[in-house]
Amino acid sequence: MGNRRPLIAGNWKMHTTVVDGCRLALDLAKGWQSKEDREVLVAPPFTILSEVAHVLEGSAIMVAAQNVCWEEKGAFTGEISPTMVRDAGGRAAIVGHSERRQLFGESDALVNRRLRGALAFGLMGILCIGETLEEREQERTFAVLSQQVERGLEGVSAAEMARVVVAYEPVWAIGTGRTASKEQAQEAHAFIRGVLAKKFEKSVAEQTRILYGGSVKPTNIDELMRQPDIDGALVGGAALEAESFLRIIHFQ
Ligand code: 13P
Repeated sequence: MGNRRPLIAGNWKMHTTVVDGCRLALDLAKGWQSKEDREVLVAPPFTILSEVAHVLEGSAIMVAAQNVCWEEKGAFTGEISPTMVRDAGGRAAIVGHSERRQLFGESDALVNRRLRGALAFGLMGILCIGETLEEREQERTFAVLSQQVERGLEGVSAAEMARVVVAYEPVWAIGTGRTASKEQAQEAHAFIRGVLAKKFEKSVAEQTRILYGGSVKPTNIDELMRQPDIDGALVGGAALEAESFLRIIHFQ
């Protein structure tokens, strides 16, 4: 067994103004005392990354970007570089979220570039993968996951994997209130770990954290976290209210 420290991440998506975001961050900082046995992270929109990082300074809550470019600077209108994320106080970046893939046409190759950019400039990368409902119904889940892992991690070294987290988010469970059952999630996570073991080696697979995302709530976090291959959660809607996110990070 690897020594994996659970990570709970809140993805704020395209929500929160400066005032809303800072208040939420403040409430989280007040409600969360650092615990050695788990890590907590929030990903606010770029517009308030630096304010939120400022509010969370000295707390045990890390700040992440929701996406990131691969270049340090240049003519990339609309993009944010990994060094800009670090400059704003961010330590990690989410890449390949299904909303980026589905609504903005991001391919595995593009997601891979973003991930390698994040790693090259010292960020932790959270690589999101997950099948659609159609793919699940056609029994293509494992094929899709294995392709997303293989292509998403192309060119990433075993040493860099210490700064990579994989987030399994079945598209059909995102924002739908329809969580994958603990058995479905565990099965997918164990499969993903197997793909990592083949691509790298068993020890890398045992050390890589695999988060579950998709309608994670205070009511289902405890049973999800009891699954042997679920090492944390990537939370959307329930991360936007301090009370529910605090309950989730205090999972038992
Ligand atoms: P929900 O928790 O709202 O289903 O969103 C999950 C998600 O997409 C997190 O990245």
